[in-house]
Amino acid sequence: MIDRFTIDRILDAAQIVDVVGEFVQLKRRGVNYLGLCPFHNEKTPSFTVSPSKEIFKCFGCGKVGNSVNFVMEHEHLTYPEALKYLAKKYHIEVDEKELSREELEKQNERESLLVVSAYAARQFSENLFSTDEGISVGLTYFKERGFRQDTLKKFELGYSFEKRDAFSKKALGDGYKQDFLVKTGLSIQSEDRIFDRFSGRVMFPIHSLSGQVLGFGGRILKSDVKTAKYLNSPESEIYHKSRILYGIFQARKSITHEEKCYLVEGYTDVMSLHEAGVENVVASSGTSLTQEQVRLIKRFTPNITILYDGDPAGIKASIRGIDIVLEEGMNVKIVLLPEGEDPDSYSKKVSNEEFSRFLKENETDFIRFKTKLLLEEASNDPVMKANLIRDVVKSIAVIPEAINRTVYIKECSTVLEVAEPILYNEVNKLRAQKNFQDRNKYPGPEDLPVKPQPVIKPVQREPVSFYSEREIIRLLLKFGSTEFERMLNKEDGKEDVLTVSDYIVREITSDNLEFNDKVCSKIFSDFRFNTEQGLITGDKQFVKHEDPEISSLSADLLSDSHELSRIWQDKQTYVETEEMKLKEIVGDVVLKFKSDKIMILRKEIMFQLEEAVKTNDREKILTLQKRYANLSVALGLISKKLGNRILL
Ligand code: CTP
Ligand code: MN
Repeated sequence: MIDRFTIDRILDAAQIVDVVGEFVQLKRRGVNYLGLCPFHNEKTPSFTVSPSKEIFKCFGCGKVGNSVNFVMEHEHLTYPEALKYLAKKYHIEVDEKELSREELEKQNERESLLVVSAYAARQFSENLFSTDEGISVGLTYFKERGFRQDTLKKFELGYSFEKRDAFSKKALGDGYKQDFLVKTGLSIQSEDRIFDRFSGRVMFPIHSLSGQVLGFGGRILKSDVKTAKYLNSPESEIYHKSRILYGIFQARKSITHEEKCYLVEGYTDVMSLHEAGVENVVASSGTSLTQEQVRLIKRFTPNITILYDGDPAGIKASIRGIDIVLEEGMNVKIVLLPEGEDPDSYSKKVSNEEFSRFLKENETDFIRFKTKLLLEEASNDPVMKANLIRDVVKSIAVIPEAINRTVYIKECSTVLEVAEPILYNEVNKLRAQKNFQDRNKYPGPEDLPVKPQPVIKPVQREPVSFYSEREIIRLLLKFGSTEFERMLNKEDGKEDVLTVSDYIVREITSDNLEFNDKVCSKIFSDFRFNTEQGLITGDKQFVKHEDPEISSLSADLLSDSHELSRIWQDKQTYVETEEMKLKEIVGDVVLKFKSDKIMILRKEIMFQLEEAVKTNDREKILTLQKRYANLSVALGLISKKLGNRILL
């Protein structure tokens, strides 16, 4: 936890133009700055930065936020990570709670292991490119496999000398501690001797998301030797193979851009795909895909395409991977390569265009993938087909979102020619079993069984529009402390000033109305609290709020695009600024808010009425009808007040 005081210091120091300017070329345009949006592709700049409001906003893709939001979005960091990034930039010391001695030691050890690994990567790379042995053995190997020099550099590949202790000796001579050499696994200690784990191998450094070297894979060059083809770093304080994806550092930009991540099996597959122009690719290298790895990808995109060999082992691995991806609530597609090919070999066999086209044309969803695979065996055997259906249903059952399950059930019903209700039933049964096993887990709304949709739906529950809620919040943020009206206080004869926020809070709370949108509701309750305590609420506290949902909504509402209340937009005679018409606007928006709430209430009553009619509950029908009529009257009054000004 970073303490509030430090957070405020960081936020105060982080000038938006400065922060964004590090990544985007900004040009001054009036009071604002303009540049090309880093979050979507554009040729004419629509990305604006407002130093006075301390926010950025792209009018092309709609992204908006403060400096922390920008860093989070751009660098794919969590909120605390983004704060630490900014703290570093502005030389602000972050002391997150006191570290215990043990924690401190652990942290120091991590640092040391990282330093040793970075050193080793440099050494190996130097060996590969600038020594006789490296060039004649290592570089020749890569060249023979057809890898380009720039790819070798991009992935920082290297070579470890044949001599059994060449690296360890050099490292010790350069002052690196034996302890850390052993803990990274680069060196192996045996009695009083020390030698290299990776001698005589070409080296693949494995990078963290931010490009630090965490570990290595080393490939043997000769095919006749009986040792493992690849050796990998052992688990250490910095290297946890289940949490690492090879190539993520080199792929991150492209994954965001393409909104998809390809998943392959090996180091060389990743490199070959880069050479074929596909850069959004990572490998789970040597381990079967883990939940943690999938979550790492999820930070960038919800779309994963598994690209494995078409041999039985590859197919098996794909099937295992599918459920792990689905369980994380992500979308999974599968491309199977022609039998006998892996992504490395196949991408080298065909042109880049052909390869890309192959990926596009052969991508299937998991239902079609499994169906195709198993139908080949199952053909007309009813027992086999039943097994296949069960298998597909099992995958659907692990999907966390009910809506997605529904979509896949529909698809499955079409492809396998099974009625939807039967599939729903099976999926629900499996989910019920799973919840039963997982006792500790409190079933959330997502765990509730999906009901088959009734065919006829007389009254539709429409999604609630948050427009008027957001307008209320916008006015509070912008004009909360502005004067709304003055009233003579009869007791002391002085004038009382009623602010916009006093007025809005009073109107909404006296009618017991509530916000449906949770972010709006949070902001409103802060205003309400402050108003009731007689405190002033500034807009900055929300733009800089630690809850990213609150800060980005506030930033959005305060940006120029909302300058004009939409209620007023089509008034032909519109000349005044919002401030000049403030009282009228605030009054109208509050009325609009109220009428929205009444409409929601009315609809709810309509639902209850239908139920009451079904059960023939006369008394209930009467009371509901009365309430409905009353609400309609109120709605009529409001509409009259608003006159022709209601546009939405
Ligand atoms: N692997 C490993 N240990 C092995 C074999 C494989 O850790 N003994 C891992 C490596 O990360 C490798 C991946 O599994 O990249 C896929 O294995 P494989 O397909 O055999 O290797 P390729 O990547 O195809 O390697 P190459 O093309 O160099 O043969
Ligand atoms: Mn290969």
